[in-house]
Amino acid sequence: MKILGIETSCDETAAAVVEDGTKLLSNIVSSSLSLHSKTGGVIPEIAAREQNKAMIPVLEETLKTLDGENVDAIAVTFGPGLIGSLLVGVETAKTLSFVWNKPLIPVNHLIGHIYASRLESPVLPKFPLVALIVSGGHTELLHVQDHGKFEHLGGTRDDAAGEAFDKAARILGLGYPGGPLIEEKARNGNSRTYNLPRPMINTTDYDFSYSGLKTALLELVSRLNQNSANHKLSPDEICNVAASFQEAVVDSLVSKTIRAAKNANVKTIVLGGGVAANTKLKEKLRSSFSGNVCTPEPKFAVDNAAMIASAAFFNFKPVSWRKVFADASILF
Ligand code: KG4
Ligand code: ZN
Repeated sequence: MKILGIETSCDETAAAVVEDGTKLLSNIVSSSLSLHSKTGGVIPEIAAREQNKAMIPVLEETLKTLDGENVDAIAVTFGPGLIGSLLVGVETAKTLSFVWNKPLIPVNHLIGHIYASRLESPVLPKFPLVALIVSGGHTELLHVQDHGKFEHLGGTRDDAAGEAFDKAARILGLGYPGGPLIEEKARNGNSRTYNLPRPMINTTDYDFSYSGLKTALLELVSRLNQNSANHKLSPDEICNVAASFQEAVVDSLVSKTIRAAKNANVKTIVLGGGVAANTKLKEKLRSSFSGNVCTPEPKFAVDNAAMIASAAFFNFKPVSWRKVFADASILF
């Protein structure tokens, strides 16, 4: 079964065709990231306008060597996400569903991230499993018993882990998006240099918190700035701060995820979301867990439409385009 996926929940405009949930036939992602780098974050209005321009070219490129009318269904992210951005993808999917007379499958973006590790992977995650979704907008722990059987265990009470990386990079003057830039600096730093807090690491729930860590980082950097001759951190200091910060974020993610996996008695952990591209996070999870840790390839960790098509295949629940049109609540 071939599914055309469409994803426009944040700043990406993405389309992909996936066969039977795992085989990638086509995958195109266009990002307005360069525009957001200038502002240090995504401006929703700008993202939606860029998606409006990019949607048709991205679809044309995705279907270049495939006959669009031969796909069996159309899957689209209906939420969570930026409303203006979501509407671009949802309206496009509804139109194609109507014109081609194909079923429309609405997909939750977070569930999509759980399926990213099934794409082009030699080993498929086995149920039951615990999934950690870590992105710019979310930090969520889920117990997944089977396709369609998801139990939310906990999540962040304030900033998402990716957002924390982005803010830390801004404090260090590194640019946007922060995750990859912090990771790069951290590679040359010593994570033991500064002992930053790991908020909520010892609480018995499965929640996370990153705003206190961000404040601690801000205080550390301004103290280091004051103590330096030219009020600037040296390149070595930047690397050490980045490594210490990354270690703090990773420690709290790993600790709660391992505890969730042990308490739920599962042998598989699945990682998803942009922060799942972080090597330190993957390494620490693997070294702390005796079961399987399934991680997506970096290109499938960040937002893409292939994961949406994959989730749609395994959780096939079509709706008529008329229903999506009539029932605006499907967006939320
Ligand atoms: O899943 P995603 O592409 O978009 C959302 O749904 O938010 O995730 C983007 C987030 C950004 O906050 C970015 O800084 C973070 O993922 N990220 C990383 C890495 N690559 C991307 N964070 C840590 N380490 C990375 N290598
Ligand atoms: Zn995402």
